[in-house]
Amino acid sequence: MSFDPLGRSDAELYTQILAREFNLLTVEHVMKFAPIHPVPDRYRWQEADEIVAYAERNNMQVRGHTLVWHIELPDWVYKEECSREHMIQVMQGHIQTVVGHYRGKIMAWDVVNEAIDDNGRLRETIWLQCIGPDYIEIAFRSANETDPNALLFYNDYGGEGAGHKSDAIYSLVKNLRGRGVPIHGVGLQMHVTVSDYPNPKLVIKNMQRYAELGLVVHITEMDVAIDIPVTQDKLAKQASVYQQMLEACLSVSNCQAFVLWGFTDRQSWIPAYMKGYDSGLIFDRDYKPKPAYHALLDTLASKP
Ligand code: G3I
Repeated sequence: MSFDPLGRSDAELYTQILAREFNLLTVEHVMKFAPIHPVPDRYRWQEADEIVAYAERNNMQVRGHTLVWHIELPDWVYKEECSREHMIQVMQGHIQTVVGHYRGKIMAWDVVNEAIDDNGRLRETIWLQCIGPDYIEIAFRSANETDPNALLFYNDYGGEGAGHKSDAIYSLVKNLRGRGVPIHGVGLQMHVTVSDYPNPKLVIKNMQRYAELGLVVHITEMDVAIDIPVTQDKLAKQASVYQQMLEACLSVSNCQAFVLWGFTDRQSWIPAYMKGYDSGLIFDRDYKPKPAYHALLDTLASKP
C-alpha cells in the first residue's frame, strides 16, 4: 500500500525525489569492498551499476565510496597472507578493478576512508599492519593511474572543525601533497547531532587551510541526528545546523560539494547505529520536506 496521494511506490518516490532535488549522489553501501568484491576473483557490479546508470539518466554526478577502509571487508581478505608484497597486490588489484570498471563515470572517489583514529594516530587496520603507513600513498597512486580524471579524496569523520583529529588529518594530507601524491581533496563527513556540531567559523578555517594546500573540500556524509523525542524545537535547531554548515561551505571557494548521507528518514543509518537518536535527514519518513529542507533551499536561493 502506498502512502503517496499519487499512488507511487516507495522506490518510485525515492528515485523521483532524489533526481528532482539533487545533482550529485553518493553510493552509500554497494561500492564498499565486501559488497562489490565478495570473493577474490569475482566482483558483483549489478547494484552499483544500476545506481551509476540511474545517475547518468538523471544528469547526476557520482561520488564513489570507498576503496580502502577497515570496515566492510569480506572474510577472504583477512585470510590472505599478511605480507607487504601480497597485501599491496590485493589492495591494488581491488582499486584498479573497481576504479577501472567505473572509469569516466565517477567524479570523485573516497580512496582512503577513516585512516586516522579518534586519538589522531594512524588507525590500526589490516592495511597498516600488513603494508605499513605508505598503504595510503600507494592507494592514491593506484587510483590515479587507473582513472587520471577522477578527483581523489581522503574522507573522515570528526575532523570538520578544530581539534587534534582535524589536525592529524591535515598533517597526513599535507604530507601526501608535499610528496606529490595525487590527492585532490578532503571529505568532511559531518555526521553531527543537534547538540554536538562543529563551530562553523572553525569549519571555514579548516576548509581554508586545505585551500592553501591547493585542495578541494567536500561535505560528504552530512546528517544531523536528533535525540528522541523529536520535537518542533529540535527540528528547528536541526534546520539551523544544516544551514550553518551549508553557509560555511558556500563561503569558501574550495568547498565544492555538499552531500547528505541519504535524504529521507525512511532510509538512514542513524536509528540502527546511534541508540536514542533519529530523524537526521531533510525529508521525513513519508518523504515530506522538513524545516531543514526549507532552510537549505532558502540558503541556496539567497546566493548568487
Ligand atoms: O546489504 C545487506 C543486505 O543484503 C543484508 O540483508 C543486511 C542484513 O544485515 O545487511 C545489508 O548490509 C548492511 C548495509 O549497511 C546496507 O544496509 C550492512 O549489514 C551494514 O553493516 C551496513 O552499514 C553501513 C555502515 O556504514 C557499514 O558499512 C551503513 O548502512 C552506512 O550508513 C555506514 O556508512 C558509514 C560510511 O560508509 C563511512 N562514514 C560513516 C558512515 C556511517 O556509519
